[in-house]
Amino acid sequence: MRISGTTAAAIAASLEKQLHSGLAGADDPLPTVRALAATLRVSPATVAAAYQLLRARGLVVGRGRRGTRVVSAPGGPAQPAASPPAAGIDLATGNPDPSLLPSIEAALRGLTAPQELYAAAPDRALVAFAAGEFEADGIPSRAIAVLGGALDAIERVLREHARAGDRVGVEDPSFPGLLELISASGLVPVPMAMDAEGPLPEGFKRALAQNCRAVIVTPRAQNPTGAAIGASRGDALRLMLRRHPDAVLIENDYLSAVAGVPATTLYSSAQKAWVVIRSTSKFLGPDLRVAVMAGDPVTVARVQGRQALGARWVSHILQRLAVTLWSDPAGGRRLARAADVYASRRAALADALSVRGIHVAGRSGFNLWLPTRDEAHLVRALADRGWAVAPGAPFRIQAPPAIRITTSTLVPDDAARLAADVAESLDRRTAALA
Ligand SMILES: Cc1ncc(COP(=O)(O)O)c(C=O)c1O
Repeated sequence: MRISGTTAAAIAASLEKQLHSGLAGADDPLPTVRALAATLRVSPATVAAAYQLLRARGLVVGRGRRGTRVVSAPGGPAQPAASPPAAGIDLATGNPDPSLLPSIEAALRGLTAPQELYAAAPDRALVAFAAGEFEADGIPSRAIAVLGGALDAIERVLREHARAGDRVGVEDPSFPGLLELISASGLVPVPMAMDAEGPLPEGFKRALAQNCRAVIVTPRAQNPTGAAIGASRGDALRLMLRRHPDAVLIENDYLSAVAGVPATTLYSSAQKAWVVIRSTSKFLGPDLRVAVMAGDPVTVARVQGRQALGARWVSHILQRLAVTLWSDPAGGRRLARAADVYASRRAALADALSVRGIHVAGRSGFNLWLPTRDEAHLVRALADRGWAVAPGAPFRIQAPPAIRITTSTLVPDDAARLAADVAESLDRRTAALA
């Protein structure tokens, strides 16, 4: 990168131009503040201010010890892992299996939707159905908003509760789209280490003790680890939250109906501000993305008030389609089947790896997180064998290296072959290092 300028604005503009012209790609590191300051003969404070401008524009993120990194080329894909791999079986992009999604054509043919005029309220059937689902899981449903997906909901809640510079506790590793959203909002991600049961109590406690304005937790199917919060971990984390009643609890139940395990919520009546978000994007399809969000009445009212000013509402055709596909008996059976298929595909790969002495954590969703000393090597070695998997770097803050394998479309026969290829790639690397 050829960076110029002697003021923060000029340095930031020069860097932004480089990003626009594709000279730096997602997750590329920026020079350290000190190094760039020395090169440009300016003070470190000037370079730090330039990086802050780029962070505020969502172009770069602070990744703790990994330094400041490029989020994505402006105008390019938001998530590096989302672009389809050039070759091989795609286990990288994190998509649901299209054959397990409902037929949009059939759903549209059966749809009856009145022409809605301005000021229409959220679809009553959708809100009533969502309320029943929340209540069944112990989550109060007196206030529910309908939004444009999980990330839309999270962005809106953060906007209503946090200001630039505020800290937000986030699972480490986490979905890159979420890390980018936090950084692009001018917020500071505080990593919370994970195991198969969700955030580790120590890390959760530490994040809360650092005055995090909000904590974002995935109750099940955590992306990328597949963690799901169990009853006892849930109790421990809920107890910690009670000592920080001002922290906003954001539960991102993005896979909800097809997560394959029940949801354990961290909600308790002690929580002043909280939301639980459920999205349809993974089980009705990313293009039929709707989120229902239960929360405390103030947060929900603030989010709805702001939504009414810009986006105004989520199309009622979409809301009607979502409730029809989610709630009717045939839809319910289809979702239960999809959840089983995803669970068995994930388990097939985990078991095949375990037979070869490779143990992975997690029990829910369709991602599997495989620790390795050298993620770039493993990604390349698997690509050579016809498998496209995601390098772990964009998911990690302080977590050690790993790769993410999405098992949503991986049939059991392929799982055995993939496990053999993983084992061989790892053995070769170990031999080479020795
Ligand atoms: C953890 C997590 N949250 C949110 C999303 C996106 O959800 P939505 O499409 O509803 O915004 C994803 C998509 O993969 C995800 O993995």
